[in-house]
Amino acid sequence: MTRTYLVTGAASGIGRATADLLRAQGHAVIGADVKDGDISADLATAEGRTELVARARELTGGRLDAVVSCAGIAHFDPLTIKVNHFGAVATLEGLRPLLAAGTDPRALVVGSIDVVHPTDPAIVDAALAGDEEAAVAASQAAVDRGEGHLVYASSKAAVSRWIRRAAVTADWAKAGIPLNAVGPGVVVTPMTQTLLDDPAMLELVERSVPMPLHGHARPEQIAPLIAWLTSPDNTHVTGQVVFADGGADAVLRGDRTW
Ligand SMILES: NC(=O)c1ccc[n+]([C@@H]2O[C@H](COP(=O)([O-])OP(=O)(O)OC[C@H]3O[C@@H](n4cnc5c(N)ncnc54)[C@H](O)[C@@H]3O)[C@@H](O)[C@H]2O)c1
Repeated sequence: MTRTYLVTGAASGIGRATADLLRAQGHAVIGADVKDGDISADLATAEGRTELVARARELTGGRLDAVVSCAGIAHFDPLTIKVNHFGAVATLEGLRPLLAAGTDPRALVVGSIDVVHPTDPAIVDAALAGDEEAAVAASQAAVDRGEGHLVYASSKAAVSRWIRRAAVTADWAKAGIPLNAVGPGVVVTPMTQTLLDDPAMLELVERSVPMPLHGHARPEQIAPLIAWLTSPDNTHVTGQVVFADGGADAVLRGDRTW
């Protein structure tokens, strides 16, 4: 059955591979990105978030079957919390009414293996309180004290925790909408290419995200998991971060999960 998907971050990397796969499966995909998407919207801004939802309504007549929130950045900068947490939550919350009108609706965010790394509770707590100004200030404080690397992990931890909390509420579970994240390890995309091309950075990446199974992934290897989690076949997986990390979580956390 043909479904209608909206994918953010569809112009590149994992988002593009996901949109390509879904189209190849015969589905209709609305791609959103900062520019050159079916919807062009900057999800770091309130205007862009409003534009995304308004255009999605126009293009779909108010019905969507699935949303994949993939847009993200990995800068040592407060912009990262704005896009990765607040942009993603606005995408999911803003499009939820369209999903509620869809068939077998599903929603997903692209999280990260980085949620198992250290985070900054001040950033995560402010994000989960929905206080963008405070989350940006806490991110800037982390940058100023030389811990800008915490902003990305914190943004992914916040959005993953948000999913876990929201997935079991009436808005999502009672409405029959599974809500999950995938947590990729290292995926070779424009986001990571420069890092992977630098031997010193590559060594650091391999130490912080060891991937004994198959090594670094290509975006096409993450897309099928996203497609399954957002398909009607997924009836009972919700509130999860499903790692697609070549074993990194099992190496890094071992028995410390449950
Ligand atoms: N590449 C990796 O190793 C990796 C690992 C774990 C998680 N992720 C996550 O996967 C997602 C996709 O990353 P990727 O590796 O494909 O990167 P990418 O840079 O190839 O693609 C990201 C896309 O998001 C879009 N985007 C960025 N800021 C935006 C904004 N303000 N508004 C709208 N769109 C915006 C970009 O234009 C781009 O098309 C991100 O959320 C990233 O954090 C990536």
